[in-house]
Amino acid sequence: MRNSNSIFKIVTVVALLALIAGWAVPSARAAEGPLPPVNLRCEYLQNPVGIDVRQPRFAWVLRHTERGQMQSAYQVLVASRPELLARDKGDAWDSGKTASDDSTQVVYGGKPLESDHSYWWKVRYWDKDGNASEYSRPASFDVGLLARSEWKGQWIGGANLLRQEVTLNSPVVRARAYVTALGYYELRINGEKIGGNELDPAWTTYPVRVLYSAYDITTHLRAGKNAFGAMLGGGWALLGAGGPAPYNQPALLLQVNIELADGKTVQVVSDNSWKVTAGPIVSDSVWDGEVYDARRELPGWDSPGFDDSAWSAAQILEGSKGTLSAQMMPPIQDVDSMVPVALTHPQPGVYVYDLGQNFSGWVDLHVTGPRGTQVQLRFAELLYDTGMINRENIRGAKSRDIYILRGDGEESYHPRFTYHGFRYVEVTGYPGTPSLDSVRGHVVHTAVKTTGSFVASKPLLNQIHKVIRWSDLTNLMSVPTDCDQRNERQGWMGDAQTSAEGMMLNFDMAAFYTNFVRDIRDVQDPDGTITDTVPHRYGSRPADPAWGTAFPLICWYLYQQNGDRRILEENYDGLKKYVEFLHSRAPDNVLRYSYYGDWVAIEETPGAEVSDFYYYYDTLLLSQMAAVLGNSADAATYTQLARQIKDAFNHEFFDAKTGNYANGTQTANALSLFLDLAPKDARGRVAGNLTNDILYAHDTHVTTGFIGIRYLMPALTQLGDSHLAYDLAVQTTFPSWGYMLANGATTLWELWQNKTGPSMNSHDHHMMGSVDAWFYEALGGINVDPEHPGYRHIRIEPQVVRDLTSVSATVGTVRGQVTSAWTHEPGAITLQVDVPVNSTATVSIPKDEEMTAITVHEGDRTVWDKGHFVDGTPGVTAGKFAAGRVVFEVGSGHYAWRVTGE
Ligand code: BGC
Repeated sequence: MRNSNSIFKIVTVVALLALIAGWAVPSARAAEGPLPPVNLRCEYLQNPVGIDVRQPRFAWVLRHTERGQMQSAYQVLVASRPELLARDKGDAWDSGKTASDDSTQVVYGGKPLESDHSYWWKVRYWDKDGNASEYSRPASFDVGLLARSEWKGQWIGGANLLRQEVTLNSPVVRARAYVTALGYYELRINGEKIGGNELDPAWTTYPVRVLYSAYDITTHLRAGKNAFGAMLGGGWALLGAGGPAPYNQPALLLQVNIELADGKTVQVVSDNSWKVTAGPIVSDSVWDGEVYDARRELPGWDSPGFDDSAWSAAQILEGSKGTLSAQMMPPIQDVDSMVPVALTHPQPGVYVYDLGQNFSGWVDLHVTGPRGTQVQLRFAELLYDTGMINRENIRGAKSRDIYILRGDGEESYHPRFTYHGFRYVEVTGYPGTPSLDSVRGHVVHTAVKTTGSFVASKPLLNQIHKVIRWSDLTNLMSVPTDCDQRNERQGWMGDAQTSAEGMMLNFDMAAFYTNFVRDIRDVQDPDGTITDTVPHRYGSRPADPAWGTAFPLICWYLYQQNGDRRILEENYDGLKKYVEFLHSRAPDNVLRYSYYGDWVAIEETPGAEVSDFYYYYDTLLLSQMAAVLGNSADAATYTQLARQIKDAFNHEFFDAKTGNYANGTQTANALSLFLDLAPKDARGRVAGNLTNDILYAHDTHVTTGFIGIRYLMPALTQLGDSHLAYDLAVQTTFPSWGYMLANGATTLWELWQNKTGPSMNSHDHHMMGSVDAWFYEALGGINVDPEHPGYRHIRIEPQVVRDLTSVSATVGTVRGQVTSAWTHEPGAITLQVDVPVNSTATVSIPKDEEMTAITVHEGDRTVWDKGHFVDGTPGVTAGKFAAGRVVFEVGSGHYAWRVTGE
């Protein structure tokens, strides 16, 4: 009895897992053929509220019970009311049956969308045999305010607490709040915080563009009196970072559009009828933290009926004259809580909490004590041997919060308008003895969804992957920052570009980077120059070429990963101007100017070589973008220019005698190999120099900085030497990722060296984490096909190396989940692959080096035997043997390969 019960449980669990994974498990009323599309997205977002794109793009994920399936046509319905959609009426857009295999980047083609309106949509598809699916479940999108003239409010300020009351004469049918601030805001209605956004709005070049958030507040309002409240903080708008602060006081801009049941509409806007006063936040700063005096709280201030007669009238401020754009990316949110793992008491009155993980965010403090007691929280990444916190590496950032008690029982507090990068919290001034529960960590960053996973049989690789994920996430603060703890936290473009691909494989980054690319455009001058940091606070204009390359590279990665042509269309002119600017600085086709080059390297490489490499790379990408956009004249011009740069690069940096580039560092040679710059007959020598340097001069260690490491690993794989790249990846002595981990790193360091003093040595930088892309692409074997971007065609090509016995990788692509999971035991290699419906793949499986005659099975069928492809397996259309690997062409579906041999 017990047995059959547990078998039943296992079967149920397997079935459930399979369902979750989206595999076809026929239910009682077995659905056969094309299943309704799922995961409907509009401008990369699920059911977005407040988009300001006039022709948004749709995407969906297809499912089918058969292998080798494609979409031959789709029908999208967009309706202005859900009832219409339920009756299959698309009054805004009915695409009709449209013959197309596009299931992503489908551009809205209906009636002009209206501001401040909601739309509902669904989609069905026809498979390659002409069978139609059912319609998907409905999804929705809300259009925000499309024109500046629709904003009726003004920028207001005067103090950091603002309120307004409004009486509504009938129940509310629909209400949307559009809100932004110079600085940060928290919007409150009838005593409650609205939405889960933190540190909102996103950081932008405020004089050029400010982003607004939209909230559906229908259920927060009621007939009768309603109170609107806003708390304001300074954020980046009031922080003098790398120059004077752009503004001297925070400002709010708000508009609420309400539709009432009686058919009337009411608008609430920020203007001088709002009342303001100073609230409990005494001071706030991104770097320095918050001082909060709970004695100054005004209970009920954000509820109707509060007596605000002592408050002043809001001041009208100039605010920003920039464009108001919808914030179309995941907001910063409090995404997780962290329970301290230890509490110590290194000195009288000093308590130190260890959260067990370095991260970005804040803590919740729980305290009971006399009125006016000041509790100070100071944040640090490091400890001294004494157990006291070491804050030398956070430089001038005060990074502390001070809470002053009301004294009326149990109190709890977390800051609103700051964040810290930390693992340790020092608490002083605590009344009584704090317990482990007195402090709870909160992880705060841009709330991108995790879409990828990577697990290998080698625990160290999994640990490195985990630490990289933490470093990536904790540096997503509406822009990709370099670090999260010291008085910096800037959008350094070099860091951004090296990590971008890895981040895209791990997380749903499309909307985030689409926004960041616009941020880059916003700093571009008419002469084409862009800046080292975006928004531009630190560093130079023009950017170091290894930093400026973030503009073309991130656009290109977005195109490759998502098939996003629009990102190329929208940025082409800017990118061309940028390349033309580089060209103007390279009269002899060599771009030499450089500030940082292969930053934080063990062995330095001449900056000119790094800059010139990127000049070539950017020009090459521009020529490819021109080709994608059908601009054949530009494609030819820039292909030609790239060729000239390549020749000049070799002339300037290649030494035919030694077979080395520049000074022969690993970076110098790896760069040339990665883009295949070396003359054909010299490639082998350059490669030999590189591997000799790694193996013999440095005992299998890297000497690169963060630019070099981005290309060293894939260059070794291109050379067929993934074994050596793997040896570097699992190295544990200095310098290596393993060395960081062995020394307690829970996020990546800025330097390979273990430094804890006052010099530049953040313990949470993501830039060395570019190796994660290599984990997915080389070890996992999941690669986009540059000719068929957006995973329309996928290259599955895992590298089975050394003592690794298994790797399992998944990437949540725009078209659905791609999996590649292999095992290796003597005499057998297995590989499980998932290819989404409407995609095809080339699956390349290595044979065990020992094997001679091999046989390949897929499931229980033989697909390769006695040197020949065996036809007849559903979904598998061709097979061949090349360069030690068996290579199959497949359509969509789940495959289980097994290669055995003698
Ligand atoms: C940052 C780096 C950045 C660099 C530019 C540093 O202060 O933390 O990550 O790219 O400056 O050289």
